[in-house]
Amino acid sequence: MSGPAPRLEEGGTFSRPGYRVRLRPIEERDVDAMMGWVNDPAVTRNFAGMSRTITRQEELAYVRAMRSSSADRLYVAEDLDGAYVGNAGIHKIYWPAANGRLGLVIGDRTRHGQGYGQEVLRLLCTLAFEHLQLHKVWIVHYGDNGRMLHLCKKLGFQEEGVLRDEYFHQDAWHDMLRHSLLRGDYDEAPWRARLGQPTM
Ligand SMILES: CC(C)(COP(=O)(O)OP(=O)(O)OC[C@H]1O[C@@H](n2cnc3c(N)ncnc32)[C@H](O)[C@@H]1OP(=O)(O)O)[C@@H](O)C(=O)NCCC(=O)NCCS
Repeated sequence: MSGPAPRLEEGGTFSRPGYRVRLRPIEERDVDAMMGWVNDPAVTRNFAGMSRTITRQEELAYVRAMRSSSADRLYVAEDLDGAYVGNAGIHKIYWPAANGRLGLVIGDRTRHGQGYGQEVLRLLCTLAFEHLQLHKVWIVHYGDNGRMLHLCKKLGFQEEGVLRDEYFHQDAWHDMLRHSLLRGDYDEAPWRARLGQPTM
């Protein structure tokens, strides 16, 4: 692979049969829903770069940057009624080697622990491998993020290593864990279902 794959069609959505969430490309109108969690310490403590207050203007600039970046694909996860559930992205895409970093957040905390994160992570992997034709996706999370660790293992990600004292946050150093899923791992994953082109 040598260059960026096409984006999901604007206004299009991507999901799988039986799922309660779908992904669609992020839009500027999503900023208000995002402001519901970007300054919530219970959510942002899991993200290394989010330890200060973020303004709506900054968040809007971030969404605009993501929408125009060739190395990022940022989606909103919404329920089947169109209500905002969270954000999901494939970032730092290095097209020559066809790899990218996954990130996800179930921003609506009342929905944590109900299986939405797993659905979103599966959808992200499916988009990465079947739509973007990536070879590898990776994810870095705090070592004490039990939910994320559990989900990575459950979906077949392999641990690549511990980034010791990688971040300083809330007066403490934190180890990060890096996990990855290769195209071949995905092909063998029991949860995988082959899909056609993801525009509906
Ligand atoms: C991490 C996150 C995306 C997971 O989404 P979620 O919808 O809460 O997760 P799910 O309900 O799909 O799955 C959670 C799984 O972890 C398990 N789990 C919950 N707490 C756990 C813990 N402390 N240790 C280990 N496993 C745990 C649950 O039992 C469930 O597994 P199961 O489906 O096998 O029963 C979500 O909690 C979130 O947005 N957190 C804040 C942001 C974040 O951490 N993002 C990831 C940064 S890379």
